[in-house]
Amino acid sequence: MSLRPETLRGVTITGTGMYVPDQIVTNHDLAKIVETTDEWIVERTGIRARRKAAPEQASSDLALIACQRALEMAKVDPKDVDQIILATTTPDRILPSCGCTLQRKLGATKAAAYDVFAACTGFVYGMGMARGLIGGGMADTVLVVGVETLSRIVDYTDRNTCVLFGDGAGAAVFQACEPGTGIHAVDMHSDGELGEVLEVPAGISRNPANEHTVAAREHFIRMQGKKLFPFAVRSMEDATRKCVERAGWSTDDVQVFIPHQANLRIIEGVRERLGLPEDRVYVNIDRYGNTSSASIPIALDELVRSGKIKPGDHVAFAAFGGGATWGASTMTWTAPVPSYAPVEAAAATGGAA
Ligand code: UT7
Repeated sequence: MSLRPETLRGVTITGTGMYVPDQIVTNHDLAKIVETTDEWIVERTGIRARRKAAPEQASSDLALIACQRALEMAKVDPKDVDQIILATTTPDRILPSCGCTLQRKLGATKAAAYDVFAACTGFVYGMGMARGLIGGGMADTVLVVGVETLSRIVDYTDRNTCVLFGDGAGAAVFQACEPGTGIHAVDMHSDGELGEVLEVPAGISRNPANEHTVAAREHFIRMQGKKLFPFAVRSMEDATRKCVERAGWSTDDVQVFIPHQANLRIIEGVRERLGLPEDRVYVNIDRYGNTSSASIPIALDELVRSGKIKPGDHVAFAAFGGGATWGASTMTWTAPVPSYAPVEAAAATGGAA
């Protein structure tokens, strides 16, 4: 017997939070270490700066602050969280999971905590899991956090990748709401055939770390960006259309579109194919670069705290990433806009919506 989505409890977001490290790395900084220019990076990607974690900061440290801010907005005590879903490609280490490390730091003593490896689609996967868990009655409060310290696996001798990625964390608290509002649809996909397009070749069971893997720089990201580009545009458009249809909307009904921030030209391609006006599409890639699983929840928190998402707004999310993975989601925003002072988002000036 299959459970139809409309028979589940409604699920919504009741709090958001973000954190980015203090250190700003500009295109000019990178032009001092690889053969590149500010002009090339801005024109081909839209990125002007990205953040870099301090040496003593690991992913769980970034995630902790984002989660504390999200829980504070939702007025949820960490001890009341049922599950922590931590989406990342850069956990503190392989064992214990980053989710468990975060659970200890948060004091979320009752929560089951685990990691999801879905690269840049990780937060959308987390949304789908939170919806299923709460909608099906297995949990009341689920904390989903996307966090990355990609600066630790970026090869600063490879200009093809080192200009793209940044560090940061974004979190959201998911709880039950009236059926028919909150999340309407989540669409999740994978295609392992595309695995080698974006990979870290060594380090775990296939190719354990040794002096050869280190010498060959196989612990860093390798990417065939050109192959990913058209896939990214097509997959985000397809997944968004499915979720828009399942919500009973047309694309004209989408008031706020939050795409994964991988490349401004990819975002523009998706926007044009969906027929959305520029002012409905949020862009902050200029300030943070590609923060992978953190990019959507960081964007969401900036929108929420700057009052650019209001209760009743129709919001769509879309992402793609290594694996390959892709997905989308649609929801009607329900949470009241917080009245207390914004954090980093106060300085947010880039982007539309
Ligand atoms: O979040 C998911 C993961 N990432 C992505 O989704 C990335 C998707 N792909 C992209 O965003 C784009 O393909 C890139 C930004 C990675 C590259 O842009 P492109 O327009 O596809 O450039 P390209 O790969 O065709 O490279 C054009 C030229 C090449 O030189 P040649 O071979 O034509 O002489 C590159 O070597 O630009 C060169 N190039 C650079 N030049 C200056 C590559 N990186 C740089 C650089 N600075 N940083």
